Amino acid sequence: MSKYTLSINGRSRSVEAAPETPLLWVLRDSLSLLGTKFGCGIGQCGACTIHLNGVPTRACMTPVSTVGRKQVTTIEGLDPQGEHPLQRAWKELDVPQCGYCQAGQIMTAAVLLKENPRPSDEDIDGAMAGNLCRCGTYLRIRKGIHRAAELAAADKKLRK
Ligand code: FES
Ligand code: FES
Repeated sequence: MSKYTLSINGRSRSVEAAPETPLLWVLRDSLSLLGTKFGCGIGQCGACTIHLNGVPTRACMTPVSTVGRKQVTTIEGLDPQGEHPLQRAWKELDVPQCGYCQAGQIMTAAVLLKENPRPSDEDIDGAMAGNLCRCGTYLRIRKGIHRAAELAAADKKLRK
């Protein structure tokens, strides 16, 4: 076991883990951040998507020893009040079905919207292709991302 000090959702957190332990287990088992989900464990489904220095990253494929001082953001830290435009749009449009994949979907979509505030259907389909949803909520996810783009644009106007 080794000791690691990680920066998670803006807070410094110390954990003990074997170096090869996936960050996903550290988040869920050591830190009780249960929003990030285990789906396939082999980098194929996107359920475990978090941000590492703002880049969407599969926590199941990220050994804790490789994280270092990179900023880790989980769904719990995306917005302090859970009011990120995507989260508001998701509620408004009832996007989830069982919900299991949705934290990963939102974390991937958040980076898309940061890089491309007005994505087309094709942009969305391209960016979201690696996030699987067994319930087939893909059309609502796409709608939700468009709606979140509108909400984010309205927020920006209000702040001006
Ligand atoms: S659990 Fe990480 S990609 Fe599926
Ligand atoms: S909402 Fe059930 S897996 Fe996506």
